[in-house]
Amino acid sequence: MRHFQLCILLLFWASVSVAREGMWVPVLLHQNIEEMHEMGFRLNVEDIYSDDNASMKDAVVQFGGGCTGELISPEGLLVTNYHCGYRQIQQHSSLVNDYLTNGFWAMERSEELPNPGLTVTFLIRMEDVTKSVFEGTDTLENQLEIERIKNENIPKILADVEVDSLHNKTIKPFFEGNQYFLIITETFKDVRLVGAPPSAIGKFGGDTDNWMWPRHTGDFSLFRIYADKNNRPAEYSPDNVPYKPRHFFPIDIGGISEGDFTMIFGFPGRTSEYLPSDAIEMILEHRNPNRISIRDIKLDILRKAMENNAENRIKYAAKYASTSNAWKKWQGEINGLRRLNAVERKRQNEALYLEWVKTNNSKTEEYGHILPMFDSLYTLFEPRQQAYDLYTETWYRGIDLYRLFSVIQSIINTADEFDTAYYTEEIQNHFKDCSFDVDRKLFTELCGNYFQQASKNFLTQALKNLFLSDNTSKKLERIYDQSILTDTTALLSLVRNAKIKRLGNKLKRDKLYQLMKIVSEQYNGVIYPDYYDTKEAIDQNQQQYITALFEMNRGKRMYPDANFTLRVSYGKIEGYTPRDAVIYNHYTTIKGIMEKDNPEIYDYNVSDKLEQLYKENDFGIYGKADGTMPVCFTASNHTTGGNSGSPVIDANGNLIGINFDRCWEGTMSDMMFDPDKCRNIALDMRYMLFIIDKFADAGYLLEEMKLIK
Ligand code: ARG
Ligand code: GLU
Repeated sequence: MRHFQLCILLLFWASVSVAREGMWVPVLLHQNIEEMHEMGFRLNVEDIYSDDNASMKDAVVQFGGGCTGELISPEGLLVTNYHCGYRQIQQHSSLVNDYLTNGFWAMERSEELPNPGLTVTFLIRMEDVTKSVFEGTDTLENQLEIERIKNENIPKILADVEVDSLHNKTIKPFFEGNQYFLIITETFKDVRLVGAPPSAIGKFGGDTDNWMWPRHTGDFSLFRIYADKNNRPAEYSPDNVPYKPRHFFPIDIGGISEGDFTMIFGFPGRTSEYLPSDAIEMILEHRNPNRISIRDIKLDILRKAMENNAENRIKYAAKYASTSNAWKKWQGEINGLRRLNAVERKRQNEALYLEWVKTNNSKTEEYGHILPMFDSLYTLFEPRQQAYDLYTETWYRGIDLYRLFSVIQSIINTADEFDTAYYTEEIQNHFKDCSFDVDRKLFTELCGNYFQQASKNFLTQALKNLFLSDNTSKKLERIYDQSILTDTTALLSLVRNAKIKRLGNKLKRDKLYQLMKIVSEQYNGVIYPDYYDTKEAIDQNQQQYITALFEMNRGKRMYPDANFTLRVSYGKIEGYTPRDAVIYNHYTTIKGIMEKDNPEIYDYNVSDKLEQLYKENDFGIYGKADGTMPVCFTASNHTTGGNSGSPVIDANGNLIGINFDRCWEGTMSDMMFDPDKCRNIALDMRYMLFIIDKFADAGYLLEEMKLIK
C-alpha cells in the first residue's frame, strides 16, 4: 500500500501561497511553527498542545457538539457565542423572565442555570495511529480488501488503549482515510448559564448582517463548567463545584493593530478543499442553485408571515434563522467560486496531475483512472444528488409538518408500547411553534414545487396521477384541511388516550398522511440507496485521489479537511478589499451601531441603555485611546462552521477575540481559500467586557478573569 510517511506533509496547490490557509492538526504543528514565528507568534508548539504539561488545548472545548468555547477563569468560566448558547438562553426564557429581550446575568453562583443535555468536551490527547490502522495492507491491491482490514484493525487498536474510566476514546479518519488519529476526550455534563446580553446586542444585525462585514454583533454568552469534588465530570448536582481547568486564557485589552499575528484554536466542522473540478462544477451550477431555490420558497413565506405579525415572528424566528444561514452562505459561495474561476483553476491543477501521472510510468496504472472515474461518477451522481437535495430540502428541512408525520409514524410502528407522554409532548411542541396559515402555505407551495421538479425524473406514477393536474394547489389545500395531522384536538386526544387502532384506521383514509408515506417510501426505497451507492464510490475515489496527491507533492505540507476535530488556523489581523475601489477597515466601533439604528429594520434595534453609554462616551477602561469603543474585527484565519466561539489568540497566547462568522466575499473558503478575500469575523474582547461591566453592571464577573493591559 502506498501509505505515506507521516512526518512529511505535503501541499497540492504548489503555486498558491498558503500563509493563512489551512486548519492544522495541533500535534503536527512543528510543520508550521517556523512560519508562525515569522508572522509574529512568540510561543512554542508545547504552549499550544502538550501531552504532559498544561497548554492552550486545555482551555478549549467543543461546546454543545457544534460550536467551540474557551475557559477564561480558574473557576471554570467559559465563553462562547451568543448564537451558540441561544437555545439554552431561549429555554430559560418566559414572559416573566424574558432573558432574550433583557439579557441574563447570574449575580451569584447559586443563580447560574443548569442546562440538561448541554455538554462540553476537552481533548485530552491525540496520537497518529495510521501505521497500526494500515497494518497488514501493504501487499494488498484491492481497495475494498484494504478497507476491510483497516476496519478490523481499528477496534483492536482501540481495545489496547487504556484510558481513564471517565474518558472517551475513538479513532478518526483524516484525509479521507489516508491518515488516522486516536483521540481521547473528556466530557462535562454540568454546564450552567452565567450570563448573556439582550438579543438586541447578542444578535444585533441578525440575518441582515449575517455573513457580512462590517459587523457590530456582541455575539457572546457565558457559561460555567461544574465538576464533582475531585474536579471530574459528573451529572448535574447541586453539590458540584466550579471546574478548575489546567489552563485558561488571560484577556488582553491592550488593543489590536492591523498586521498583528492571530491564531484560532477550535473545532471546525466540514470543509472539502480537495474536490475535483467536476464536483465544484456540480455544486456551483446545480447543487447550490437548487437548494437556494427551494429555500427561497420557504423564506418568502416566512418573511411575509413575520413582517407585521409579532406572534409569527416569535414562532418562526429560529426556523427563519436556521433556514437562512446556509441559504445565504451558498449564495456567497457561488459568487466566490465564480470570481476565483474555481472550476478552471481546479482543471489546471488536474492537468498538472495528469502530466505527473503520465511522466511517471508506474503511476499510470495506479492513479491514471482517478480523474476519468470522477468524470463518469459525477455525471451519474448529479441527478441523484439533485433528487436527494430536493427531498431533504423540501420534506426534511422545508415542510415542518413532515416531522409530525415521522412522529406519528413512530407511534404507529411502536403500536401499543409507545411512550404516551413523550409523544404527546412531541406533538404539542410541533403545534406550539406553528401557525396554520403559514404551515398550510409551506406545505402546499413546497409540495407543489416538489412534484413539479420531481416529475422530470423520479416521480412514481402513483404520485403523478394524483398531483400533476392544473388544480394541484387546490387539491393540496383540501387534503391539508381534511387531515387529522392538522387537527390538534383530535390528534392529541387519540394519542393521549392511546387510541392507536382508531388513529391507524383514520390514517388509512388520510390523504395527507398517505401522500407523505409514499414520499418517504420513495426516498428510502429509491432516492437514498441510489444516492448512497454513488456517494460511496465517489468517496473511495476521493481517497485514492488524496493518496496520489500526497505522492505527487511529497515534501510539501498539506492540511486535512475539517472533521470536527481540534485545529489551529493562523493569520493576521487585516481588513480587505471586497471590490473595486472599496477598502474595508479591520475593525468596527460602537458608532457603527448607532449608524445602523433603524426602527424599520427589526434586526437593527439599538437598546436605549447602549445609546446612553455611547452618548456619554462612557466606555470605562475598554475604550480606545482615541475615545472610540471597538466592537468587532476581521482577520485572515481559515475557519468554517463549528469555529463559532473559537478563541482568537494573539502572539503571546492571550485572548483578543471570539470568532463568530466569515465575510461575504470569503464564504467559498470551505472549497477554495482566497488569501485576498477570506476573512473571519470576531468579537473584540473589549466590547464583551464593556457590555458585562458598563451595560449589564455585572462587573463582579470580571474579578475572576485575568485582564492584561
Ligand atoms: N453565520 C454564522 C454561522 O454560520 C452565524 C449564524 C447565526 N446568526 C444568524 N443571524 N443566523 O453560524
Ligand atoms: N457562524 C459559524 C458557526 O456557527 C462560523 C462561521 C463560519 O462558518 O465560518 O460555526
